[in-house]
Amino acid sequence: MANPNFLVVAFPSQSHINPALQLTRRLLRTGASVTFTTTTSAHRRMRGFQASDRLTFATYSDGVEEGSKPSSNSLEHHMDETARRCSEALRQLIEASRDKGQSFTCIFYTAVAPWLADVAHCYDIPSVVLWIQPATLFEIYYYYSNGYVDNITNESNGPSSPTQLPGLPPLTGRDVPSFLSPGSPFGFLYTLIEKQIQVLKEDRRPRVLVNTFDALESEQLKAIDELELVAVGPLLPSFVGQDSSDTSLGGDLFQGSRDYIEWLDTKPEASVIYVSFGSISTLSKPQKEEMARGLLSTGRPFLWVIRKAGEEKQEESEDQLSCEEELLKQGMIVPWCSQVEVLSHPSIGCFVTHCGWNSTLESLLCGVPMVAFPLWADQLTNAMLIEDVWRVGVRVKGNEQGVVEGGELERCLELIMGGGERSEGMRGNARNLKDSAIEAAKEGGSADKNLKAFLEEIASS
Ligand code: UDX
Repeated sequence: MANPNFLVVAFPSQSHINPALQLTRRLLRTGASVTFTTTTSAHRRMRGFQASDRLTFATYSDGVEEGSKPSSNSLEHHMDETARRCSEALRQLIEASRDKGQSFTCIFYTAVAPWLADVAHCYDIPSVVLWIQPATLFEIYYYYSNGYVDNITNESNGPSSPTQLPGLPPLTGRDVPSFLSPGSPFGFLYTLIEKQIQVLKEDRRPRVLVNTFDALESEQLKAIDELELVAVGPLLPSFVGQDSSDTSLGGDLFQGSRDYIEWLDTKPEASVIYVSFGSISTLSKPQKEEMARGLLSTGRPFLWVIRKAGEEKQEESEDQLSCEEELLKQGMIVPWCSQVEVLSHPSIGCFVTHCGWNSTLESLLCGVPMVAFPLWADQLTNAMLIEDVWRVGVRVKGNEQGVVEGGELERCLELIMGGGERSEGMRGNARNLKDSAIEAAKEGGSADKNLKAFLEEIASS
């Protein structure tokens, strides 16, 4: 029998492409052929993965090259357009491979893209979602779309009366993904998730591949009987001890200086605070000023990633921090860095993170405790998992205007960096989870075993 021929479709953002590339790497390891698809503009920014006789890249335009830029007020329209163009590209790919006598065995796609399941279905090809957030999130969305709306969005879900959904940790109002909050401007994203869940329900055997690992979310992975969540993670852009530049997207942003690694080399073990808010989000100017105040008041060295604002957004002067000179005496500010390399550096003692799922997993894999500073979406739930379930970090509290003040940040940082029982407890938990993550990700670990079982089943059905 011919080797399987898989198609992997990644939504064009770093947080989708990185895990999709790692899944591709695992599929290639099984001897399969893989076609990897994303937009032309995203593909241009990828580096490290070379096409080969078993790996093909096929790209399509989402209009970005022609000058159409997604902005938050046209995001919904941009998503529709991406869906239309992506579906069309997928049809062409499927037909071309069929004409060559090399039909696809299965289509893997990063969620959320229910339109891809429709196309796959038209050609009678099995398809499966790669969920790039924790299993807990998928379960919350699943419950929400299956009669639990009131339980999840009930405003009185405070710490003393959290919602208890079967198989999930207790949820208070601030742990719920922001798309589900009434009046969320990103409510349309939930509509897509709901369609995705609908597509799954129509499946003979609903299954989702999840970028998590068995030991991390053992209960959550089993929470819902009629839905099989298969943990195939951690799928990370690079792995501790391996070449950290292998698959990063955004390499164009840090082609220049890597002085920060040399700077980290000069710092004592676990002494540096690393601060980053991922590839999408930026902090408001007042929030950045408070962050600066908090960092300065700790007196500790820090490495802070501040992405440059887009040309259309702000004047450069607005970007300037009032205490920049003092900041640069104490720490380092960079526009981008090789994050896994930074997190695995022995000098890093703590990560102030927006709790994007990739950043969270990367921190777990490197055993670095976190100050959880969630901004939106799944990040709120991830922060709860970090603080309450895995106990590897502390979550910041905003003031009445939602701003996290410098003093609050200092409080959280000292809880982690200042020694003491709680700090030691979090470091110990982070070390244990690091060991489990490495165990899951190694060749023949739970991620490989779960994926292999899934592939065997696809082959036999
Ligand atoms: C988005 C959503 O915001 C997040 O909530 C969801 O969980 C995933 O999709 P993003 O905000 O980009 O993700 O954050 P995250 O998932 O953490 O991914 C950021 C990636 O950028 C990480 O892999 C990180 O290593 C990388 N990064 C970030 C760098 O390589 N260098 C940097 O300087 C900053």
